[in-house]
Amino acid sequence: MRLIPRSLLFLTSVFVLLSVSSTSPIPIPKLFTQCLEANSQNPIPFSTTIFTPQNASFTSVLESTAYNLRYLLPSMPKPEFIFTPLEESHVPIAVVCANKLKIHMRVRSGGHDYEGTSYVSLIEQPFMILDLAKLHAIKVDIAHNTAWVQAGATLGEVYYRISEKSPIHAFPAGICPSVGVGGHITGGGYGSIHRKYGLAADKVIDARIVDANGKILDREAMGEDLFWAIRGGGGGSFGIILSWKLNLVQVPPIVTVFTVNRTLKQNANNILHKWQQVLPNIDEDLFIMVHTTVTNSSTRGKTTISTSYIARFLGRVDRLLQLMEKKFPELGLTKKDCLETSWIKSVLYLAGFPNTTSPEVLIQGKLAIPKLYFKAKADYVKQVIPKNALNSLWKTLMQDDAALMIWVPYGGMMSRISESATPFPHRNGTLFLSQYVATWSDGEKSMDKHMNWVRRFYDTMTPYVSSFPREGYVNYRDLDLGMNQFNKSSFLRSSTWGFKYFKDNFIRLVLVKSKVDPSNFFRHEQSIPPVPIAK
Ligand SMILES: Cc1cc2nc3c(=O)[nH]c(=O)nc-3n(C[C@H](O)[C@H](O)[C@H](O)COP(=O)(O)OP(=O)(O)OC[C@H]3O[C@@H](n4cnc5c(N)ncnc54)[C@H](O)[C@@H]3O)c2cc1C
Ligand SMILES: *[C@@H]1O[C@H](CO)[C@@H](O)[C@H](O)[C@H]1NC(C)=O
Ligand SMILES: *[C@@H]1O[C@H](CO)[C@@H](O)[C@H](O)[C@H]1NC(C)=O
Ligand SMILES: *[C@@H]1O[C@H](CO)[C@@H](O)[C@H](O)[C@H]1NC(C)=O
Ligand SMILES: *[C@@H]1O[C@H](CO)[C@@H](O)[C@H](O)[C@H]1NC(C)=O
Ligand SMILES: *[C@@H]1O[C@H](CO)[C@@H](O)[C@H](O)[C@H]1NC(C)=O
Ligand SMILES: *[C@@H]1O[C@H](CO)[C@@H](O)[C@H](O)[C@H]1NC(C)=O
Repeated sequence: MRLIPRSLLFLTSVFVLLSVSSTSPIPIPKLFTQCLEANSQNPIPFSTTIFTPQNASFTSVLESTAYNLRYLLPSMPKPEFIFTPLEESHVPIAVVCANKLKIHMRVRSGGHDYEGTSYVSLIEQPFMILDLAKLHAIKVDIAHNTAWVQAGATLGEVYYRISEKSPIHAFPAGICPSVGVGGHITGGGYGSIHRKYGLAADKVIDARIVDANGKILDREAMGEDLFWAIRGGGGGSFGIILSWKLNLVQVPPIVTVFTVNRTLKQNANNILHKWQQVLPNIDEDLFIMVHTTVTNSSTRGKTTISTSYIARFLGRVDRLLQLMEKKFPELGLTKKDCLETSWIKSVLYLAGFPNTTSPEVLIQGKLAIPKLYFKAKADYVKQVIPKNALNSLWKTLMQDDAALMIWVPYGGMMSRISESATPFPHRNGTLFLSQYVATWSDGEKSMDKHMNWVRRFYDTMTPYVSSFPREGYVNYRDLDLGMNQFNKSSFLRSSTWGFKYFKDNFIRLVLVKSKVDPSNFFRHEQSIPPVPIAK
C-alpha cells in the first residue's frame, strides 16, 4: 500500500532540491571555476588557481605582494576569492566570466598601490582579485634594444634580466625593485635615470591588453588613443595589461653612487635651498634625491632634522667630483663618500640593500624595506622653497616620530617631453616631486595619529607647491583627494583627483574610457569614469 502518491513524492523531492539550492546556492568561486572551464580552449584544473577563505593558503596569497599593511587590517574588506592565472589565455576568460557572474574584479600585478586598490574594494562588495603574479616572463632582445615584459614581473626582475644579457643596457623605471610593472608603467613610472631618459611609460613601444569584452589587443588593434591612455593614465581603468614592449637605454659599465648626510648644524637648510636650484638643471647623468627625517642627535637625545643625499651618477667618480665642485660645492662631496660600482649593483644600492647583497636578490622577491603600515601624500614643486620657510616645515615634520619627506629632482628629459604626449602631465616647469610618508608598525593603535600628521604636513606645504590644480602623482595614489562611490563613478566626483593627477589630459582619458569601457567594468576608488557619448 502506498501512502504517498508518486506525484506527491516527486513534488516533495523537487521542493527539497529547490530549498537546498536556495539556502545554499552554488558559491560564486565554484561558478567562476565552472565558467573558466567552459570557456577555456585548453581547460586546466582551475580549482588549483582559485583561492577562497576556506583554502589554507588564502591569507598568504592575499598578503603576498600587498605592500601596505594598512589595507590588510582585519577591518578591511576581503575578496570572495583570488584567481591566479597561469597563462595569458586565462585572463580574457576571467573577464568574460566576471562579467557574466557580475562579480566586481580587482587587478593586481605588484601590489604596491598606496591605497590598496588592487586588493581591497572599499566601494563594492563582493569582489574578486585577479592576481597576475604568476605571469612574469621577461624576454630581453639586446640586438633590437627591446624587451617584452609580462605585467606580473617586478622592476627588480626586469633590471636583473637585462643585466644578465648586458652590463650597459638598462630600463628607466622606479627605484624600489619590488614594484610591479603592471601598475607602475600604467601610472608613468619615474626612477633614478628619468632626468636622462624620461619615464618608464615614455619607453613603451607596444603592449598587449585585455579589454572589457575579453579581447586581447596589441598596439595596432587598440589604436593610438587607448595606447596613449595606458601610458600614464593609471592602472585599473582601461583594461588589463598582459605585457609591455619596452625600449632599453644605455648606461656606462661603471657608475658612481654616494650617500651624504647633513643635519641642521651641518648647514642642512642652505644645502637644501641650493639643491632645489641646482638639481633640476644639472647634468642629466646626475640624480640626487633627498630623504629628510627626524633623528635623535647623539648629544642629549634632542631631536633634529637629518637630510640624506642619495645619489647615482652615470659616470666615474672623477667627473662627478668636478661637476659637484662646479655646481654644488655646498654639499662638500669628497671622493671617500663615493663608490664606483656596476650598474646592477647601483640598483641594489639605491634600493637600500646592504652592499654585500648579490643581484640575485632581485629575482627572489626579497624586500629591501620591510612592509609597514603607511600613509603618504605627494606634491609637485615649481618654485624654490625659500630658506626661511624650511624651518617652519621642520616644526611640523618633528611632530611625528617616523616622518619621512622625499624630494626627487625632475628636469632634463622630463622637461623636454610635452605635457600631452602621455597622460602624465608633470613636465616642464616642475622642479621636483615632494612626498611625505608616515610609517608605523602597531596597526590601528597609532594609525590616526600618523594619518593626521601626514595630512597636517600636506597642509603646511600648501604655500610652497603647485596650485590650480595642486598636482599629484597617480602612482602615489591618495584617497584623501576623493573617491568614486559604490559601483558608480561620476565625472564630477572624479574631476578633483582627475585634474590633479592628469591636468587637462583628464578630459582625454575620460573620452577614451567612455569609448573602450562604457559599462565601466574596470573600476575602483579612483578609476577614470566613463561619460555617455554620442556614437
Ligand atoms: C615602496 C614603494 C616604492 C615605490 N617607488 C616608486 C618609484 O620609485 N617610482 C614610481 O614612479 N613609483 C613608485 N612607487 C609607486 C608605484 O609605481 C605604484 O604604486 C604602482 O602603481 C605599483 O604598481 P604595482 O603593479 O606594484 O601595483 P598594484 O597594486 O598591483 O596596482 C596598482 C594599480 O594598477 C592596477 N593594475 C595592476 N596591474 C594592472 C594591470 N596588469 N593592468 C591594468 N591595471 C593594473 C591596480 O588595479 C591598481 O589600481 C612605489 C611604491 C611603493 C609602495
Ligand atoms: C581550495 O579548496 C577547494 C575545496 O577544498 C579545492 O578544491 C581547491 O583545489 C583548493 N584550492 C587550492 C588553490 O588549493
Ligand atoms: C645617513 O642617514 C641615514 C638615515 O638617517 C642612515 O640610515 C645612514 O646610515 C646614514 N648614512 C651615512 C653614510 O652616514
Ligand atoms: C628619540 O629618542 C626618544 C627617547 O629615547 C624616542 O622615544 C624616540 O622614538 C626617538 N626618535 C627617533 C626618531 O628615533
Ligand atoms: C660595504 O660597506 C662597508 C661598510 O660601510 C665597507 O667597509 C665595505 O668596504 C663595503 N664593501 C664593498 C664591497 O663595497
Ligand atoms: C620650459 O619652460 C621654460 C619657461 O617657460 C621655457 O623657457 C623653456 O623653453 C621650456 N623648455 C622646453 C624644453 O620646452
Ligand atoms: C550597484 O550597486 C547596487 C547597490 O549595491 C546594486 O543593486 C547593483 O546591482 C550594482 N550594479 C552593478 C552594475 O553591479
